[in-house]
Amino acid sequence: MSVAAAARAGAGGTARWWLSACLWAAAPVPAWPQAVPPATATLELGREVFLRKAVPACAVCHTLEAAAASGAVGPVLDELRPDAQRVAKAVRNGLGAMPPFQGVLSDAEIEAVAAYVAVSTGAAR
Ligand code: HEC
Repeated sequence: MSVAAAARAGAGGTARWWLSACLWAAAPVPAWPQAVPPATATLELGREVFLRKAVPACAVCHTLEAAAASGAVGPVLDELRPDAQRVAKAVRNGLGAMPPFQGVLSDAEIEAVAAYVAVSTGAAR
C-alpha cells in the first residue's frame, strides 16, 4: 500500500468515526416524563371537548380566549389559570352550578380538556 492510499484509508476511517459520532449526537434524547408537553392530538381533542363534545359545552359557561369562548356562568379561565389537575377535578366531580362530567366524558376526554385549558391559559407552561 502506498503512503497516499494509507492516508486515504485513514481519512476515510476518521470520516466514518465523525459520521457515527454526529448520528449519535443527533439521536433523540429521551425527555423526562414531567417535561413532556401534551401531544398536539391531545390538545386538539381537548379543544373539541371544550367547544362541542361536553354537553353542555364548557364554552357555554366559561370564557377562554384560546377557544374564542365567552361564556359568563362560570369563572373566566384565562384569569383563573387552573392547572390540569384542578380542571380535571372540577370536570369529573362538578362544582357548584357546574355539572359533573364523569361518565359522560371518557377519562381520555377529561384529561385532554384539562390539558387544553391548562396549556392555553399558560398554567402548564
Ligand atoms: C353549566 C355551566 C358550566 C359548564 C357547562 C361548565 N362549567 Fe366549569 N364552572 C361553572 C361554574 C358556575 C363554576 C364555579 C363553581 C364554584 O366555584 O362554585 C365552574 C368552575 C370551573 C373551574 C374552576 C374549578 C375550581 O377549582 O375553582 C374549571 C377549571 C372549570 N369550571 C372548567 C370547566 C370545563 C373544562 C368544562 C367543560 C368540560 C366546564 N367547566 C363546564 C360552570 C360550568
